[in-house]
Amino acid sequence: MTPDRLLARDDPAWWRHAVIYQIYPRSFADGDGDGIGDLAGITSRLPSISELGVDALWLSPFFTSPQNDGGYDVADYVGVDPLFGSIEDFDALLDRAHELGMRVIIDIVPNHSSDQHAWFQAALAAAPGSPERDRYLFREGRGENGELAPNNWTSTFGGPAWSRLPDGQWYLHIFDSTQPDLNWRNERVRSDFHDILRFWLDRGVDGFRVDVAHGMIKAEGLPDYHPHEFADRIGVDPSVALTKEGPNPPYMLQRELHEIWREWRTVVEEYGPDRVLCAEAWVEPLTRLADWVRPDEMHQAFNFSYLEAPWDARALRATIDSSIAAFGSVGAPSTWVLSNHDVVRHATRFGITSAVAPGEGIGPRNADSVDAALGLARARAATLVMLSLPGSSYLYQGEELGLPEAIDLPDDARRDPSWFRTGGERYGRDGCRVPLPWEAADPALGFSPTGAAWLPQPEDWRALARDLQSVDELSTLSLYRSALSARRSRELGAGSLEWLDGYPATALAFRNSGLTVIANLGRDPLELPEGTRLVSSNPFAGTALPPDHCVWILED
Ligand code: NOJ
Repeated sequence: MTPDRLLARDDPAWWRHAVIYQIYPRSFADGDGDGIGDLAGITSRLPSISELGVDALWLSPFFTSPQNDGGYDVADYVGVDPLFGSIEDFDALLDRAHELGMRVIIDIVPNHSSDQHAWFQAALAAAPGSPERDRYLFREGRGENGELAPNNWTSTFGGPAWSRLPDGQWYLHIFDSTQPDLNWRNERVRSDFHDILRFWLDRGVDGFRVDVAHGMIKAEGLPDYHPHEFADRIGVDPSVALTKEGPNPPYMLQRELHEIWREWRTVVEEYGPDRVLCAEAWVEPLTRLADWVRPDEMHQAFNFSYLEAPWDARALRATIDSSIAAFGSVGAPSTWVLSNHDVVRHATRFGITSAVAPGEGIGPRNADSVDAALGLARARAATLVMLSLPGSSYLYQGEELGLPEAIDLPDDARRDPSWFRTGGERYGRDGCRVPLPWEAADPALGFSPTGAAWLPQPEDWRALARDLQSVDELSTLSLYRSALSARRSRELGAGSLEWLDGYPATALAFRNSGLTVIANLGRDPLELPEGTRLVSSNPFAGTALPPDHCVWILED
């Protein structure tokens, strides 16, 4: 930690320019040796993350859960799952992170609970039409005997979005059948969640990443969804909000959501201006996403348009411009993100050289579609571009090691519900959730003291272990450290972007806070301006920037 560093802890507006590091607890570090990461494991490794130079942590769920969806199926919102430790372990983690100057945001999963939650169990035990059932979305079926689902919605994980109970009623689950959707038109649901927010704020958390923030309210009457008809009718009207499923699904993007955010904003502000809400909202275009971060709603929303942009200078420039304009139009900082626990790691994604079906993921069947060396070179360059942009960036654990997607996972090791619900058609997300390599010579590459790991680590990850990269100045880890340190000392997160003229359309060239950033996404080397090269994504000699490289230059 540099002495002149303004710690996120001491800066109420920290979230406007922070670098936030996502920890997926199951796969970060295992303290007790059962092969599953835990809170004590995280605490013991926090110095490495602070040393990396990030401002804050986002912890994916560690709450009581049957773990059917990696903890995004919560059975008790104020309990720590024994798999991950105890509430005391959580307090110790929070204290240690704060001591090291890092903020901590946690994940809140309000769209649905686990079917093991006491609320759902009470609903099952109660009669149709009861207040217990009104906490969820129970409905009678269609057809003569109610044997058809109440509408035609499908689950994001594949298969139907409705399951039927022995008493004949159906319940809605936009995700797995063990993740029943809560009814956010129910006042008790709303006030219980205010209490849950306060429970964690009282313990000292700095904010929340809000899961499926765009899906919590469903259209009145739960109408069928006909995306294609609707899309044809509206054409490509950019004012219409889109999700991955298509335009305006009745189970997403409802206007009443904004009331919820206003209520939540009031709750977090009781604790001061430095407690934040960040929306997980797969919403396009960015002009619509901006509605979520108006001054009295969420503070931030993930910029999935950026994550999904291809390695193409025109597309990236357009996304950067529209992000800054859209978020800026409501006074919010833009966010940037390249990887998380739901997508193919960007070191692999940028190396995909032939078409992969949307949502299929990468696994043994389509492994040939990936050029790993190209992917890593581009990923390093893409990260350098991202970290030079004004606003707040999210990193996903392991990207600082250049980890690729784990492609060769055996079928019987896979755990993602989308793998099961599509009969293996989609590989799902296990490949980006493999336990981290810490020490090359230790059991489970240092992930756990016993050598156990809930998903097998690829043998070639040994060479990527953190201890080896720490002492290699050309490693991806060293690149992240240098970039994060320069980003902080030059305050790039709080800066502003000015595009530079005179570069080909296949390049990104801009200035931020006195730094010139040039990325070459074309096929030919690119002549560089004079100046001191502060950081470069990969080493290169001469005055021209090779393809798939990015460099930060200080004018002399
Ligand atoms: C988004 C989370 O990031 C993902 O991991 C989860 O499966 C779904 N929401 C459902 O909670």
